[in-house]
Amino acid sequence: MDKVILVTSGKGGTGKTMFSVNLGATLADMGRRVLLIDMDLGMRNMDLYLGMENRVVFNIMDVMTGVCRLNKAILRVHGFESLYFMAASPRRGDIRLTGKNMIALCEILEKYFDHIIIDTGAGMGELLDACAAPAGTAVIVTEPEIAALRDADTVNARLNELGVMDTCMVINRVDLELVRAGVLMDVESIIDSTMTPVIGIIQEDRAIRISTSRGTPIAGEGENEGLRREFRTIAGRILPAE
Ligand SMILES: Nc1ncnc2c1ncn2[C@@H]1O[C@H](COP(=O)(O)OP(=O)(O)O)[C@@H](O)[C@H]1O
Ligand SMILES: [Mg+2]
Repeated sequence: MDKVILVTSGKGGTGKTMFSVNLGATLADMGRRVLLIDMDLGMRNMDLYLGMENRVVFNIMDVMTGVCRLNKAILRVHGFESLYFMAASPRRGDIRLTGKNMIALCEILEKYFDHIIIDTGAGMGELLDACAAPAGTAVIVTEPEIAALRDADTVNARLNELGVMDTCMVINRVDLELVRAGVLMDVESIIDSTMTPVIGIIQEDRAIRISTSRGTPIAGEGENEGLRREFRTIAGRILPAE
């Protein structure tokens, strides 16, 4: 499914949710109808990064178990005309979600949205397999350190096994001072060392921590033009050629 973008990582805490939220906000700013789905079941925090925590009543598990209709679990994100959001359940869930479940869900959602961005937890397992089933594209978010990069390549191989061949990588939290000091790998060496195409570099930036803490995506109003430009570049590379 071309409209479904999976966001994942090997190592934890690399910036998947931050990336999902800002990619979604950027695409929405470009006039697309975007749905963000938080699939980090049990460890959700996309609602916080979007400033929507007080608005969530129903979540994806409520939809899957028939507690509510799909439209009740989809909220429009404050401050954006065409950015929507579906929360994860605070617990891991009463039922096991399968690839078939996720494909059936995305088949309906594709009628209403131009892009469906699925944010996952870190690592591999049944839930990643289920989330990968409808995905046409996967973005692996990594940090520029050897452990994270190795895990990213492992996840990439798993995604290929699952049939997601259009995979790419975003290198997040690039700290130029640490690169200069020889602590972190420089971007060129990373690109040379990985098989996965790199579609974006995001610097370590306090503005990102501030934005996730405040619940206001970078792509919205305000300063941070440099970060916004980087997200627009990444969004352009993800969009299918038209
Ligand atoms: N490029 C960055 N610069 C500074 N802080 C970042 C950056 N990327 C992510 N963070 C911070 O790191 C924390 C974890 O990010 P998050 O997106 O929740 O990771 P994940 O979803 O992979 O667990 C958040 O507090 C976020 O603000
Ligand atoms: Mg997350």
